[in-house]
Amino acid sequence: MSLKDKTKWDKKYQNKPQLLEFRDASAQLIDALKSIPRGEALDLACGTGRNSLYLAQNGFEVDALDIAQVALDTLTQDAQRLDVTHLIHSTLIDLDNYTPEKQYDLIVMCNFLDRSLLQKTKDSLRSGGFYFVETYMLDASNEKENSDKNNLLEKKELQKIFRDFEIIYYNEFDNEKHELYSMKKQIILAKKI
Ligand SMILES: C[S@@+](CC[C@H](N)C(=O)[O-])C[C@H]1O[C@@H](n2cnc3c(N)ncnc32)[C@H](O)[C@@H]1O
Repeated sequence: MSLKDKTKWDKKYQNKPQLLEFRDASAQLIDALKSIPRGEALDLACGTGRNSLYLAQNGFEVDALDIAQVALDTLTQDAQRLDVTHLIHSTLIDLDNYTPEKQYDLIVMCNFLDRSLLQKTKDSLRSGGFYFVETYMLDASNEKENSDKNNLLEKKELQKIFRDFEIIYYNEFDNEKHELYSMKKQIILAKKI
C-alpha cells in the first residue's frame, strides 16, 4: 500500500471532519446518468461515497474503492441509513497497485486523477459502457496553487485520453461555489465503442 497516499488522506479526513459530512452526488454525474442504462458500476477513489450512494439509489450495483478507511466507514454508515448496503461493495485499496478483475457498465473517477489508472481501467468497461471523469484542471484563474501539477488535467486532456471512445459530453467549467477554492474543472462522458 502506498503509505504516502494513505497517511496523507487519513490525516486529511482526521483534520477536516467536515469532509466526512454527507454531500450530494456530483451534479454533472446526476445529469449524465439520465442517458446511461443501469448495470454494474465502479467508483474509483470514492471517498465517503456520495456518488456510489447515488448510483446505488438509482439502480446500479457499485464497487466502491478508496485508500482511506475512515471515508469507507462513513460510506458504510450512510449506505445502511439509505438502505443500499446490498448494492455497494466497498474495499480499502491502494489504486496505485490495482487492476480490475471484472468488467463494468460504468466507471466513475471524480475529484481524483491517476492517468495510468484511467488508461488501465478503460479496458475494464464492457463494450457500450460509459466512463465518467470529472476533476480539476490547470488554469490561470485557479485560486489554489497546487504544488503537484500532476494532479491537474491539461486543457482538453480528457478528450485526448478518450479519443478511441465516442465522446457523449465534454466541458470545462468553474467548480461549484460551495467548494473551498475556485478552480476550473474538466468533465467527460465517453462511451466505449
Ligand atoms: C477529493 S477525494 C474525492 C472523493 C470522491 N470521488 C468524490 O468525488 O467525492 C479523493 C479521494 O481519493 C482517495 N485516494 C487518494 N489516493 C488514493 C490511492 N492511491 N488509492 C485509493 N484511493 C486514493 C482519497 O482517500 C480520497 O478519498
